[in-house]
Amino acid sequence: MSKRIGILTGGGDAPGLNAVIRAAVLTAQNHYGWEVAGILKGFDGLSAGVPPIPLTEKDVRELLARGGTILGAANRGSPFAQPVQRPNRKIEYEDASHIALSRMAEQGLDALIVAGGDGTMAIAHRLVKMGAAVVGVPKTIDNDLGSTDTTFGFDTAINTATEALDKLQTTAESHHRVMVLEVMGRDAGWIALHAGVAGGADAILIPEIPFNIEVVCQKIRQAQLSGRNHSLIVVAEGAAPVNGQQQYKSKGSGRADLRLGGVGHTVGNLLAECVAAEVRVTVLGHVQRGGQPTPYDRWLATRFGSAAVHLVAQEKWGYMVALQGNTIVPVKMEDAIRMKFVDPTGETVMMARDLGIVFG
Ligand code: F6P
Repeated sequence: MSKRIGILTGGGDAPGLNAVIRAAVLTAQNHYGWEVAGILKGFDGLSAGVPPIPLTEKDVRELLARGGTILGAANRGSPFAQPVQRPNRKIEYEDASHIALSRMAEQGLDALIVAGGDGTMAIAHRLVKMGAAVVGVPKTIDNDLGSTDTTFGFDTAINTATEALDKLQTTAESHHRVMVLEVMGRDAGWIALHAGVAGGADAILIPEIPFNIEVVCQKIRQAQLSGRNHSLIVVAEGAAPVNGQQQYKSKGSGRADLRLGGVGHTVGNLLAECVAAEVRVTVLGHVQRGGQPTPYDRWLATRFGSAAVHLVAQEKWGYMVALQGNTIVPVKMEDAIRMKFVDPTGETVMMARDLGIVFG
């Protein structure tokens, strides 16, 4: 039976989103003979009734290597909390999820594929409970979604962060400096851990392990005593000191409005007080989210996009495709919403400690 599937991308973008769209369109068209419609601006576009764009093989041909998402994504939008301006100009949030559901019907969508992180999966899960036919694809550079070993976007992000460390390393060596690199990682330190190990960092500070700056100072001093006058320190944006708080650039009304930032400079200032070396701080920011996906991310995103269409064929509403080992499996969205953290006593952290890397 012929179907019309909608596809949307939610939350912050990640390299590989376009490869998911491409794979879903190609699989739907070639394998099932189905039509795919691209929903613009994530759930906001769906609720607002923005007309979806038809996606055919011709439209997605060049998408494999392109970063970002051709559909656009709303990083804060949720049909369960739509901003409404009251007559007194105050903005209040209303549950408009029934509108999102009726838009799906109006636009003749038999099913919806959503590619997103924990926020997007939480919305999709609630829509499924209301009767919507939705399947998910896990996306986040932070790699912190539960039930999947890896999300696409993560490999590209650690490549970018590692390249930054490699470059910082050479200039640190020339000037005998301590270089601090702040990377993304709101609640989980996967990017910092992987890039830190791959880039030969001396210290890696992650949200899962509250840090004591004195431990980092000692590490730098030890390096200096052994004749190495430069050091690399990687700090995840969500890292916090023992008994301290995460640092924000800006705070809004809800969790979605919180913007982490500043801990790299704080660590830099603290280090400048305790070591006899010049300390410089680099904040990598959105560079980690941009650019072409790595071959691995293209491969994973393609497998996910294609598998999501097969989930639609099996009517596995409320399920998300996931990578477990080297196999793509369906998992319940509610399990994916539970975040995946770096285990402070796990094998990789222990290995890093064995190498002499400190976690503060
Ligand atoms: O969730 C991915 C992420 O890149 C986080 O690491 C980071 O805190 C956040 O997105 C930044 O989001 P925004 O672009 O909305 O500021």
